[in-house]
Amino acid sequence: MKAKVLVARATFPDVIERLQQQFEVESNQEDKIFSPAELLQKMQGKDAVVITASEKMSADVIVANPQLKAICNVAVGYNNIDVAAATAAGVMVTNTPDVLNETTADYAWTLLMANARRVCESEHWLRAGNWKHWRFDSFLGADIHGATLGILGMGRIGQAIARRSTGFDMNVIYHNRSRATPEQEAYANNARYVSKEELLRSADHLILVLPYSPQTHHIIGAAELALMKPTATLVNIARGGIVDDVALIAALRENRIASAGLDVFENEPALHPDFLTLSNVVLTPHIGSGSEKTRRAMADCASANLAAAMSGQQPPNLLNPEVKAKK
Ligand code: GLV
Ligand code: GLV
Repeated sequence: MKAKVLVARATFPDVIERLQQQFEVESNQEDKIFSPAELLQKMQGKDAVVITASEKMSADVIVANPQLKAICNVAVGYNNIDVAAATAAGVMVTNTPDVLNETTADYAWTLLMANARRVCESEHWLRAGNWKHWRFDSFLGADIHGATLGILGMGRIGQAIARRSTGFDMNVIYHNRSRATPEQEAYANNARYVSKEELLRSADHLILVLPYSPQTHHIIGAAELALMKPTATLVNIARGGIVDDVALIAALRENRIASAGLDVFENEPALHPDFLTLSNVVLTPHIGSGSEKTRRAMADCASANLAAAMSGQQPPNLLNPEVKAKK
């Protein structure tokens, strides 16, 4: 008998077609956003669920379906899943690491450069017919080249971001829970490990690459923003909630930092409305890994994890190897 699989969000049609050859698939190609109650109901009787970062797998959702064997997240970050509850319930949890590192690193640079050189702000101004008011000192930004790049979170994506700075002749500093190896530091444009305080004080531009957890909740708040340079750009391509959005809005409004590039927010897809009133912020809807090639690689990676889990093998990206999987 084929395993029953719920694919909770729309994906590439050929991915669904391939899954249908192996599984009994309930897809959601119209991409209806399920309420928690609808998701619970859809999951009834399924052996596995394929989700994105927008679906929450809390303990009550996980235990409500005793047949559930696997949760396959099509994302690297998995703070949307109660992994401990899944482990206790005998449910395997997988994610899609590595395939998105380079694309996400590209996007961190996209937001950094768009902010430092005020691309979006000046483009809106041009569209509004203001070019005739151009002045020699219009939209003066901050240089990227030769600047000090700060990275908070030196995992694989952090290293990929740092490595890109070689062509800009930058000095790279970082802070991380544990220090990177000398080889990783060398790869990351000879990044230098510093305290969090020195990182905040010395970075001309700061990129956040931390997973969200209770330990990283509001790791950038009012006190941290106060240490940053008034000319600095802050970029968050990691997760909402690692930044205190209210504190950031205040800092941007009072020009205590120059600008922010944000792809993630607290309470996504809701956004603090005050962000929309600020011109020194670039706001995008969680598209950091969103190249065609990488989104396909993520879907393939999740499919491979699903196939392994359903055939009784260890999935390549199992997050809870201690789980005693159900037969
Ligand atoms: C996207 O945010 C991811 O975690 O892959
Ligand atoms: C995140 O920084 C990762 O480990 O990929």
